[in-house]
Amino acid sequence: MTLKNTADRWGAISQLLHWAVVLLIAAIAIIGLTMVEMNNGPSKIKIYALHKSLGLTLLSLVALRLLWRLYAGAPRPVAGTPHWQERIASLTHWALYALMFALPISGWVFNSSSGYPLQYFGLFNLPKIAARSEELAQLSRNLHEYGFWLLLALVLAHAGAAFYHHLFQNDDTLLRMLPRRRALAAAPAASAPASAPASLPETHDAN
Ligand code: HEM
Repeated sequence: MTLKNTADRWGAISQLLHWAVVLLIAAIAIIGLTMVEMNNGPSKIKIYALHKSLGLTLLSLVALRLLWRLYAGAPRPVAGTPHWQERIASLTHWALYALMFALPISGWVFNSSSGYPLQYFGLFNLPKIAARSEELAQLSRNLHEYGFWLLLALVLAHAGAAFYHHLFQNDDTLLRMLPRRRALAAAPAASAPASAPASLPETHDAN
């Protein structure tokens, strides 16, 4: 597998960043929804700290991912995909990037404007990025909360589209974001070809 994206597939780095971000967002969301229901106490403080540290990790990963995306580009869309579908897929992707930045940053602004300290996994302190202000705290809190529900809606639509392509259009949209299966390599060495065809002619895309 190549590290960089090709015209037909996402490379290893884009795949790794994509799925790491998926897992991280799932963990942060579950922790976030759980912690707000907890009674005050040491466990609540610990779990808030974990939510914040994971959120900061997400922020760095998304920044890395965006830089890599700008450097490595993206596979081309599947031939024959209607233009409007390509546009919607692309708009969704950029909206997801925007929200993946907006959520941790609004959390950080909320934390700062409320006057709370911020530590990264107890290792070092991070600076405040906003002055103390009740109004700003309220605004950033709303942004953080409503932004999350918007992200969830977009993610469901996005993942639904990927599965729809896979199950009903039988195209490569989902597979090209996954490591290539080594089915041929698993066959007995004598009968299997030395290597699978480097790339299949069909190129699919767009969700
Ligand atoms: C089960 C969940 C998910 C599935 C099955 C999925 C699947 C995919 C697939 C197949 C692509 C490639 C589309 C193409 O080649 O045109 C993709 C791209 C992308 N996904 Fe997901 N995804 C999931 C969750 C997420 C989540 C949680 C996020 C972030 C909030 C996300 C953000 C993105 C972005 C931004 C792209 C575009 C990549 C780029 O252009 O740089 N995905 N996803």
